[in-house]
Amino acid sequence: LGYIRGVNKPENIKRLPGFRDFAPQELAVRARTFDAWRAAAQSFGFQEYDGPPLEPVDLYTRKSGDEIVGQLYDFVDKGERHVALRPEMTPSLARILAQKSRALPKPIRWFSMPQLFRYERQQRGRLREHFQWNVDIVGEAGIGADAEVLAVALEGLRLLGLTERDVEARVSDRPLLRAILMALGIPEATHDAVFQVIDKLERAGPEWARERLSGAGIGPAGADELLGLISDAGPEDLAQRFRANDAVIERLDITRDYLERLRSLGFAAWVSFDLTIVRGLAYYTGTVFEIFDRARDLRALCGGGRYDRLLELVGGDPLPAVGFGMGDVVLGELLEERGLVPEWTPAVDAFIVLPDADLRSRGLEVAAALRRGGNSVLYAFSEDGVRRQFKTASASGARFAVVVGPDEVARGQILIRDMGTGDEYNHDLTNILNGTARLGSA
Ligand code: HAM
Repeated sequence: LGYIRGVNKPENIKRLPGFRDFAPQELAVRARTFDAWRAAAQSFGFQEYDGPPLEPVDLYTRKSGDEIVGQLYDFVDKGERHVALRPEMTPSLARILAQKSRALPKPIRWFSMPQLFRYERQQRGRLREHFQWNVDIVGEAGIGADAEVLAVALEGLRLLGLTERDVEARVSDRPLLRAILMALGIPEATHDAVFQVIDKLERAGPEWARERLSGAGIGPAGADELLGLISDAGPEDLAQRFRANDAVIERLDITRDYLERLRSLGFAAWVSFDLTIVRGLAYYTGTVFEIFDRARDLRALCGGGRYDRLLELVGGDPLPAVGFGMGDVVLGELLEERGLVPEWTPAVDAFIVLPDADLRSRGLEVAAALRRGGNSVLYAFSEDGVRRQFKTASASGARFAVVVGPDEVARGQILIRDMGTGDEYNHDLTNILNGTARLGSA
């Protein structure tokens, strides 16, 4: 490639916009997030899975909706297949389960933490790659599964130190909204257009929405009525207003059950009913929710809902499903803002100090024995003064310095110094080498 001018100059190669590097400091933050996500999912009995980062483009073009399809990283591979980097995990999950679900006991409780790729417009909280925690229950149509997945999402945030004062889950129900639209005399053919307007309502504002709705054949009075209802009415107001409408009442009962279950699971204060949440993805068929920071400064941290038709659409058995995706980007911004990103310092268990070059092989034997005993161990690769070695030990965050010196070794011992307290202990070299000694005690 040297003939392309500039390519052979390393300083010309920059990281792609919208992508991140993870130096150890940043990777430690990511790992802590992953640990909390995994712990929350496991405490609810979910099992971890993964799939390929590259998928046939058709998996997305038919099922995800126009917004995501417009952001695909897609190309034709050397075998003439039209492929795409995965922009979301749900279609892969549906594809995997279309093959496997028959053999699995229901409901299936699976989670994953894939890296996803979307060619987004540059904006705060949206990058071109992110890691997204996906938690889904497949094979359960009842509202109990909807409550359970939202509880997992909130538990993950709680484990990271966030509370109901920091975040809010806004929950809605697409069939309820459809029933309300029908009750207001808005024909089914315009529902999708109305959903798209409501999805952009918060960002674009009520004036814009009123104009759009009027354009969709809903008169200005109808638009005002609809916008008023979805912005202000709670489940009780709606029950009152639509008490003669069985379809609305039936979905409201389900919504009440959903909220009641979340209350019993300990998340009442985290959740609020909000009909302005509809979600942009095309496949949702039931409850939908998004989690935001309370101040509403940031974009959504998490989004999910029920999608009962997707497995069938990718060729599997018709199985009901519900789940969510939570990204690491907005979450990271919120944790940072709240001072919930712990200071990161490197740490190892032991640093071998070698005062005498002749004892290097003994020192390496000690390092090997300690490592096999489960300790992380460092030492200097070339000869260095003892003071310098102690300095390096300290800078590496070692809890113990292990001195393999001529006098100690002559007595069949080594010296261990606790770098925190300065306490020193002698250990029998044999016990260290055969792995029976503990670093911390004499
Ligand atoms: P989504 O709303 O497209 O849903 O994404 C879920 C979350 O991923 C968002 O709330 C956001 O935190 C994060 N996210 C999405 N795109 C980006 C981006 N470009 N940069 C940073 N973070 C981003 C889904 O993907 C559904 N498949 C979720 C789902 C799972 N539904 C059911 N199961």
